[in-house]
Amino acid sequence: MKPTERELPVFDVRAHDRAILTELQAAVARVMQSGWFILGPELERFEQAFADWLGGGHVVGVGSGTDALQLALTAIGAGTRDAVITAPNTAVPTVSAITAAGARPVFADVEPGSALIDPERIADAIAPNTRAIVPVHLYGRAASLDAIGEIARRHGLAVIEDAAQAHGARFRDRPVGTWGELGCFSFYPSKNLGAYGDGGAVWTADANLARRLKQLRNYGQSDRYRHETVGINSRLDEIQAAVLAAKLPHLGAWNVRRQQLARIYRERLQGLPLELPAEPSAPDAHVYHLFVVRVHRRDRVRAALEARGIATQIHYPVPVHLQPAYRHLGHAEGDFPQAEAWCRETLSLPFSPVMSENDVLRVADALAAALATGDS
Ligand SMILES: Cc1ncc(COP(=O)(O)O)c(C=O)c1O
Repeated sequence: MKPTERELPVFDVRAHDRAILTELQAAVARVMQSGWFILGPELERFEQAFADWLGGGHVVGVGSGTDALQLALTAIGAGTRDAVITAPNTAVPTVSAITAAGARPVFADVEPGSALIDPERIADAIAPNTRAIVPVHLYGRAASLDAIGEIARRHGLAVIEDAAQAHGARFRDRPVGTWGELGCFSFYPSKNLGAYGDGGAVWTADANLARRLKQLRNYGQSDRYRHETVGINSRLDEIQAAVLAAKLPHLGAWNVRRQQLARIYRERLQGLPLELPAEPSAPDAHVYHLFVVRVHRRDRVRAALEARGIATQIHYPVPVHLQPAYRHLGHAEGDFPQAEAWCRETLSLPFSPVMSENDVLRVADALAAALATGDS
């Protein structure tokens, strides 16, 4: 690292919000002064604004992306006798939500070129007890929602999208999260739309499902002290809702900036011995929650970047079917070879809409040097 250069993190939350800090402070102060912290007007305003941003339907704010998935599964009645299909290279919470809903996770391998769930492998994984498919729009790119929807229709299954990493990504003419019966979002601080703590939401076109979700997130309560169903406590609080409502008008521009920076990475890294993220053609839109490349001997490349003050991350190093917590599912190495290969080679470079073009070029050039000098 040159003396004039600073350490580059993968994502810097404080830098991300710096330009709108006063708006965010005002939003938080408004809630503090109101004295209303749970299930109030800020949440209603954000739910409506996010539903409008997604093109209509209903949004129900919940405590996290994990809870969004769990409650979505519970809302459609998925439970102990059911199997739910998802990808093995997802964030573990996709799978822990299926387990928390009482259902059994079943994995379908991913496409070699995209790291996204492979519709053909979904078709192979369907059994009489399959209830739902949870496609994950990993890294900000839409899974093949047309093929997945077709399989779901043919077999009478629900599609519950995990759009935790893909706010604003589009498949054909619609945003992801609005293709299935239910779409689940996370507002974890580093997401494309991030809160100042945990947060999540479920989208649905169905008013009855939205009503059911509102009960489920609030101890199953339909009216005060009347409990129609067994629920949990998982509510997007007023402070988080106010922060998210203040950030939402900026999300479109942030996503466009991510796409511009991704283009710079792509141009600079073209021709190197690595795999770049596949760019879908319009009208599909990748929102680059992460900029992920695939490289051989990944750990040596990481170390070379680290030595130049450039942090990287791995999303994710171990596929869920090989995690100790899921040993009971009975899988072994080799069961999902494409997902396993991604986990061995995936590398997330520094990326955020407030990075400068020079920062992107610095990372790209350091990566090129690492690949050229035999560091890899
Ligand atoms: C793909 C995916 N699904 C689910 C989740 C869970 O979201 P949360 O951390 O808000 O519970 C995350 C985020 O961590 C995620 O990246």
